[in-house]
Amino acid sequence: LDNGLNAKPALGFNTWNAFYREIHEDLVKEHADLMVSLGLRDAGQYLVLDDCWSERSREEGERLQASKEKFPSGMKAMGDYIHAKGLKYGIYSDAGTLTCAKYPGSLDHEELDAQTFAGWGVDYLKYDNCHVRRDRWVIDRYAAMRDALNATGRPIVYSLCEWGVMEPHLWAPQVGNSWRTTEDIRPWWDSIVKTLDYNVGLSRFAGPHLGWNDLDMGNDTGLSHAEQRTHFALWALLKSPLMIGHDLRDFSKTSLGILLAKEVIAINQDDLGVAGDLVWRQGTKRVYAGPLAGGGRAVVLANFQTTYSQYPATNITVFWTQVGLQPGQRVAVRDLYAGGCTTWWCCA
Ligand code: DGJ
Repeated sequence: LDNGLNAKPALGFNTWNAFYREIHEDLVKEHADLMVSLGLRDAGQYLVLDDCWSERSREEGERLQASKEKFPSGMKAMGDYIHAKGLKYGIYSDAGTLTCAKYPGSLDHEELDAQTFAGWGVDYLKYDNCHVRRDRWVIDRYAAMRDALNATGRPIVYSLCEWGVMEPHLWAPQVGNSWRTTEDIRPWWDSIVKTLDYNVGLSRFAGPHLGWNDLDMGNDTGLSHAEQRTHFALWALLKSPLMIGHDLRDFSKTSLGILLAKEVIAINQDDLGVAGDLVWRQGTKRVYAGPLAGGGRAVVLANFQTTYSQYPATNITVFWTQVGLQPGQRVAVRDLYAGGCTTWWCCA
């Protein structure tokens, strides 16, 4: 969507995969504090409250209202807290009559809800696809909220969560800033592979004037360290929004180190904004690559072997031409997780 909010994929944290329905004001505040103290706040980081923040019914006058029990200070105050931490404020609604957890959805209330969100200082809306009416076309339902957000005059990133229905890469670039390409990610490696397989060939539909393929948030509790590194590197290379889905109070140091890998995040936020894609595979071995501003190439070599505890090392040979370089070209190669040293290589 060419609304000026696509220059880079969104970065941040979302409550759903870590907390599901159990969100409340203190927990969200604690996470805002942790994003800052753990060093996870980069310019423009979003803290997104997912499903289950509202009352079961609208106010008199049809306005959405915060759950009095879970968010007693209200959603405007929640946003003020998040903003005071230097973060941006994300909220959630649904393009149906109810959200997936059966709180009020925004279908046919788009204008009022968009105005309500803007009044609360919301900077990002994740828009889900549950409890829809079959007689209402998905594109119309999502476009209605696009227009309503636009009419508020507030810049609000519009994150479509339509789970890949109706080949969203073909229509969503005119509707949202990012679109989910699949159903929900699960916390095991097969789900990561399935998500990546769906996304092969979709990179060309993404970009700064279009929006981004959203491969869903982090959900790493069942992944080995090597799998987490691979997951994060590939989401970065494919220019998916990078939304942490991890309880920030409970990080093993290794996982946090992955999320803080500045040079990997820099690939995701690269100024050229061209998403990488699969360029070679053989058995469980894969090579992903994409171009970077300044003529560089981001490359991920991955062994997709699914064994959790034994993750065997393997050799993968990459030819420069596979990643868009000239045969024999002399290049500097840098391991972005290790940082530091750069080696000079030449290749056949
Ligand atoms: C389905 C979405 O895909 C999830 O990310 C999450 O937002 C839940 N709905 C919330 O009910």
